[in-house]
Amino acid sequence: MPVYSEKVMDHFMHPRNVGEIENPDGIGEEGNPVCGDMMTFYIKVKDNRLEDVKFKTFGCGAAIAVSSMVSEMAMGKTLDEALKITPASVAEELQGLPKNKYHCSNLGAQALHKAIEDYLSKQKAQGDKKA
Ligand code: FES
Repeated sequence: MPVYSEKVMDHFMHPRNVGEIENPDGIGEEGNPVCGDMMTFYIKVKDNRLEDVKFKTFGCGAAIAVSSMVSEMAMGKTLDEALKITPASVAEELQGLPKNKYHCSNLGAQALHKAIEDYLSKQKAQGDKKA
């Protein structure tokens, strides 16, 4: 049984920002075919900043803690800042993860980045239409 930090346990027992955003500006989904875990991030963007971040995670305790932490780290950040959130920085904020749980932290950052990319590609498509 892996040993989790207090912070991981806290975010696992009391995850922040769980849920879905109605009419999100971007959605990012990421899964791991090996363990079968899935997470989806929803974002609302205003003035190039993440105004709201929510997630739904079907996964292990570490995956839930990671999603919760990613949502907290990303909230209020500019898109560029949020794109700099890495699996390593998430694991660090969580005071570390057991080695065999590193892949769980990859999912969180990747799902967030995908949601931002989804937003940016929609913006670009709109811009192209206007042009
Ligand atoms: Fe796969 Fe945690 S065991 S995300």
